[in-house]
Amino acid sequence: MERLQEALSRARDRRQQATAAATAGVAQAPVGRVAPARNGDAQFNTSSQEAWRRLAQYEPNERTLKSNRVVAYFGGREATAFDMMRTKVIQQIKANNWRRILVTSPTPKCGKTTITANLAFSFGRQADFRTLVIETDMRRPELAHLLGIKENLRFARVLSGDEPAEAHMLAYGNNLAFAANKVPAENPSDLLLSGMAREKIVEIEKTYAPDLVLFDAPPLLASDDTAAFLDFVDAAILVAAAEETSIHEVDVAESEIAAATNVLGVVLNKSRYSTSAYGYEDGYY
Ligand SMILES: Nc1ncnc2c1ncn2[C@@H]1O[C@H](COP(=O)(O)OP(=O)(O)O)[C@@H](O)[C@H]1O
Ligand SMILES: [Mg+2]
Repeated sequence: MERLQEALSRARDRRQQATAAATAGVAQAPVGRVAPARNGDAQFNTSSQEAWRRLAQYEPNERTLKSNRVVAYFGGREATAFDMMRTKVIQQIKANNWRRILVTSPTPKCGKTTITANLAFSFGRQADFRTLVIETDMRRPELAHLLGIKENLRFARVLSGDEPAEAHMLAYGNNLAFAANKVPAENPSDLLLSGMAREKIVEIEKTYAPDLVLFDAPPLLASDDTAAFLDFVDAAILVAAAEETSIHEVDVAESEIAAATNVLGVVLNKSRYSTSAYGYEDGYY
C-alpha cells in the first residue's frame, strides 16, 4: 500500500514535468489559433436532442446501485470523491479539447466499471454537459449488471455494424447514456480492432453530440484489446487496486498508455486507509 502510493507519487512528478513541458509548447503556439467548436458550446442542437429523446430510459434500482457501490448516484456527501474527480476531468478535457476518455487498469477487477459508473452519475448532474458511457470490456461486461439493467443490451452488435445504436443504449435523463452488454461478445479482440467499431463510435458521436465519451475498457495487461484501442482515445484513467495491484503492474500499464495517448490520472481504489465511505483514496491526480 505504502509502496504503491510512493510509486504513484513518483509517476505524478514525472507527469507534472511533462505537463509543464507541454504547456510551454502551447504558450508558443501561433496567436489566433482557433480551437474546434465543442458540442457543449452549441447547447444541444435540435437533431441531437431528438436522438436523445428516442433513447429508452434507464430505470434505476436504488438498492442495486447501493449494493454495487454506485454511491455517486445518490449525490451528497457520498458522491464528493467522484465529484472531485469529475472536476479534474472537466478541467483537463476543456484545457486540452478532449472528448474520449478510457478507464482501464493493469489487471481485472480493480474497480474500472464501478468507478466509471460513479463518474457517470457525477457527470450526469452537470447540466448542459452530455456524457456517453461505452462499454468496451467485451470479455467481462459488468456495466449492465452493476446498474441493474434488465433490457437485453448487446452493444457489441452495434460495434460490429449489425444493429442500430439506439437499440442497445439507455438514457438517464437527457444528458447521460449507457451503451452496455448483458453478455460477453464472441470476438472481443477482432471487434475492438476493427475499423467498423471506430466508424460506429464516430457515427454515434455525431448523432448524440456528447461532451464526454467514457470507455469502460478491458484491463491492459490481460489481453491486447485495450492497447489496440488506446490510440483512438484522447486520454486514459488508470485504476489500481491497493494491495492487489503491484508497483510493477502500474508502471508497465502507465508506460503502455503513455506510449499511445495521455495519462489523465491514476486512481488508487479499494484503499483500506481511505477516509471516504467509498474506499477510494486520493491517489488521483
Ligand atoms: N472501493 C472498493 N472497495 C471494495 N470493493 C470494491 C471497490 N470498488 C470495486 N469493488 C469491487 O471489486 C469488484 C470488481 O469491481 P469492478 O468495478 O467490476 O472491476 P473491473 O471493472 O476493474 O473488473 C466488484 O465486486 C466491486 O464491487
Ligand atoms: Mg469491468
